[in-house]
Amino acid sequence: MIHYKRITWEEILPMWEEGMPNMSKDPTSAMGMYLHPETDEPLYDLQHMKGAPTFYGAFDGDKLIGVNSGHMNMDRVYRSRGLYVKENYRGNQIAQKLLMKTIAQARHEKAICCWSFPSKEAFSTYRWMQFQLKTCFFNFQYQDNNIRACYIIDHPGMCDYHAKFYSMLSDVGAPIPELN
Ligand SMILES: CC(C)(COP(=O)(O)OP(=O)(O)OC[C@H]1O[C@@H](n2cnc3c(N)ncnc32)[C@H](O)[C@@H]1OP(=O)(O)O)[C@@H](O)C(=O)NCCC(=O)NCCS
Repeated sequence: MIHYKRITWEEILPMWEEGMPNMSKDPTSAMGMYLHPETDEPLYDLQHMKGAPTFYGAFDGDKLIGVNSGHMNMDRVYRSRGLYVKENYRGNQIAQKLLMKTIAQARHEKAICCWSFPSKEAFSTYRWMQFQLKTCFFNFQYQDNNIRACYIIDHPGMCDYHAKFYSMLSDVGAPIPELN
């Protein structure tokens, strides 16, 4: 029987090192600034260092077999990050339960949504958890092969967020980003 509980950054770190070699191992992500197209100045500080991160582990007995983390950025936009399940435990909805914990934490912290940047291969797991695929309009123009996925918690809050973000784009005359 797999059980789930909060863990620390020190506990999650070895699993991230084992399974997520390309990911930054900081407790929160340094990714996520929208830069002015001409000056390269940050337009939109995601405040990624301000929210205290939460780490979750899935355990088979005492053995840690899956992890995820989350932290607030941009005030009420919650980031899910570092989802990983050990290979011989995959396909048992363990990742979905870890996402469920992260969404619950986002809701607890009064986020309007929980978003992530999954690989295309991992997206099916997110889709099962009702994450929606987003275009590169969502948040910022970060070029990568990963995709933007978002679970909406507060629909009116998300409408306000989009209105604010898009008006900011037109203020600076930013080119409309190409859709993925
Ligand atoms: C991505 C990852 C976390 C998924 O972990 P997992 O515990 O196997 O995930 P789940 O069991 O919740 O879902 C995985 C599969 O079950 C399927 N599934 C989930 N719920 C299902 C259901 N109710 N009925 C049928 N199929 C279901 C999903 O479609 C998915 O299958 P697919 O990938 O073959 O299309 C894991 O593969 C992993 O650690 N990969 C390496 C690291 C990585 O890529 N992390 C994500 C970075 S963004």
